[in-house]
Amino acid sequence: MKKQNYYIKQISAIDTYAVRHPVLRAGKPITSCIFEGDDLETTMHFGIYDNDELVGVCSFLKNNNPKFPEFRQYQLRGMAVLKSQQGLGLGQELLKYCDTILKLEKTELIWCNAREVAVNFYKKNGYSPIGEPFNIKDIGPHFVMKKQLNPET
Ligand SMILES: CC(C)(COP(=O)(O)OP(=O)(O)OC[C@H]1O[C@@H](n2cnc3c(N)ncnc32)[C@H](O)[C@@H]1OP(=O)(O)O)[C@@H](O)C(=O)NCCC(=O)NCCS
Repeated sequence: MKKQNYYIKQISAIDTYAVRHPVLRAGKPITSCIFEGDDLETTMHFGIYDNDELVGVCSFLKNNNPKFPEFRQYQLRGMAVLKSQQGLGLGQELLKYCDTILKLEKTELIWCNAREVAVNFYKKNGYSPIGEPFNIKDIGPHFVMKKQLNPET
């Protein structure tokens, strides 16, 4: 980890737009940052701050994927770190923190639709790709990836 003055906390859906917009929906209207389920009581959003500036976000939706037998699943969405702050370990720290929170919720499995360019990032964080790539309109090829959580560790 190449950063020192960072902290992580739970944030609101609206807070995530400051990072979702430039990183995941560049050039699109701000409304494209609103994800279905963002405001559900079971949805959690997290932000990583560098010197009090929000620089990375991710969200977890209680959304079971029928591909997987586990009962307690969360879907990871909107994983993004500002371009100027990428490659410094912030994304990894954010996911590590979220794993701890999700274990407290007794989560068994996290899954996501990973952009092809981010597959190696997720692999480094314990996720495995499942099956063949598929296309998401206007964004490109994606892989379903999953990570099993062990509540004992
Ligand atoms: C993908 C993303 C969230 C990673 O966050 P980050 O803070 O840049 O990643 P980290 O610095 O924590 O990287 C952790 C590890 O993953 C690797 N990694 C990071 N991004 C990677 C990428 N796109 N491809 C391959 N490896 C990557 C890093 O090299 C690092 O490995 P190391 O510890 O061996 O050096 C960030 O780069 C991003 O926002 N990208 C654009 C948006 C995006 O694609 N989001 C994913 C949508 S599914």
